[in-house]
Amino acid sequence: MPLLAPPVKRNRSSPMPHPPAPEKVQPLRARKSGPLKGIAVVPGDKSISQRALILGAMALGETRISGLLESQDVLNTAKAVRALGALVVRDSEGAWRVAGGGGWRQPDDVLDFGNSGTGSRLMMGAVATTPITVSFTGDASLRSRPMARVLDPLTRFGMGYQAQGPKALMPVTVTGASDAMAISCDVAVASAQVKSALLLAALNAKGTSRISQRALTRDHTEKMLAAFGAQICVEVSQGGETVNVTGPAHLKACPVEVPRDPSSAAFALVAALIVPGSEVSLPAILLNPRRIGLIETLLEMGADIEIGNRRNSGGEEIGDLLVHHSALKGVVVPADRAPSMIDEYPILAVAAAFAKGDTVMQGLEELRVKESDRLSAIARGLGANGVRFTETADGLIVTGGQEVAGGGTVATHLDHRIAMAFLTLGMASRAPVTVDDVAMIATSFPNYQALMRDLGADLAVPNHA
Ligand code: S3P
Repeated sequence: MPLLAPPVKRNRSSPMPHPPAPEKVQPLRARKSGPLKGIAVVPGDKSISQRALILGAMALGETRISGLLESQDVLNTAKAVRALGALVVRDSEGAWRVAGGGGWRQPDDVLDFGNSGTGSRLMMGAVATTPITVSFTGDASLRSRPMARVLDPLTRFGMGYQAQGPKALMPVTVTGASDAMAISCDVAVASAQVKSALLLAALNAKGTSRISQRALTRDHTEKMLAAFGAQICVEVSQGGETVNVTGPAHLKACPVEVPRDPSSAAFALVAALIVPGSEVSLPAILLNPRRIGLIETLLEMGADIEIGNRRNSGGEEIGDLLVHHSALKGVVVPADRAPSMIDEYPILAVAAAFAKGDTVMQGLEELRVKESDRLSAIARGLGANGVRFTETADGLIVTGGQEVAGGGTVATHLDHRIAMAFLTLGMASRAPVTVDDVAMIATSFPNYQALMRDLGADLAVPNHA
């Protein structure tokens, strides 16, 4: 089969699901559940799924992906790389093939990334050193998120861009550089998205780029680049790192096995910890050391989490988790742990509401620029449900106890993790908790409701219970 050869032969593959059109607002309420029991088979990791599609599209040859997360964010990235000339085929659920043609082609239309910061920011880097013009947009949440953090350092490669206002909001138009040269860049924010965008841009720049960061953010891009044959070398020093990548790189297709997402597992895990009598197992969860800050924290809080059968899958560490309901106690979560659990603070705050004493979370400034201002959304959600807390500019203290009143309605602000976290709160609080909209859960965890109901969670549309 030629590598860059649309149209795809549909009769030999399953149709590529389309990211669903924006849904109507869908409220949902969670009521105190009986013990949660069973096996929670959570879907593939979002970060690794996004990178598998992008690197597969940049590589020569056909990349076979298994366990791909088929959520809205990932499907939007699949659509984008296809619009840029890659061949993308879905063979069956989670089994995809991607083939690049050795370069991007000019897309005919604006690329719409929906809710996905990762997809859009990584793709800005991926096209930054190819002389084409690409426009990026997204939903209301993504259009409110700062893109300057990624676009400004990318201009160092010679890329140009146009965006809205000083924070460089979307819609954004990027004009990639021709004949880009390697750069040295100290990334100011603790962001794997920014680091990854620069690494992807560096692949097509002549010479060795040095990308430094004063934090240890997730390293999936680095690991996958090495597997795809890039010349890459990582130096870790004093809580930070420098990644050296040499271009022009000729990536070679490489099979990718996507492990199960620890950030999605977190919701069933914490639900099992706070609902009395629960016992839930979570097989084959990604345990990359830069993603397990939540598990470390919960263990310090007294959680009964057994980690068994640690093994390697596709270059990443995975393991099976067995979780029992536990009496939790408050702890101090240090700021330098934030990168390894950056998406897990909403659900940690819920665990903290059921923990005895104060849980002190520090270094949370990045939460202000997630899918919502997550720090504020967590605080409002706790307040609406009778949980005591103190919010600061970059921190949160939750004062927990055995009983949480519940009874509130939580505004989710188009943020999937706020929705799932507060549904979890409702599974163990005295009165039910309602979240105003669960449509966004499909961006990361499409089978969330079915999976939680199978474990015994009581979830229902308000007034239909
Ligand atoms: C991600 C990095 C993190 C995380 C996001 C996924 C990634 O964002 O919050 O959900 O895949 O690189 P930042 O880079 O903004 O911290």
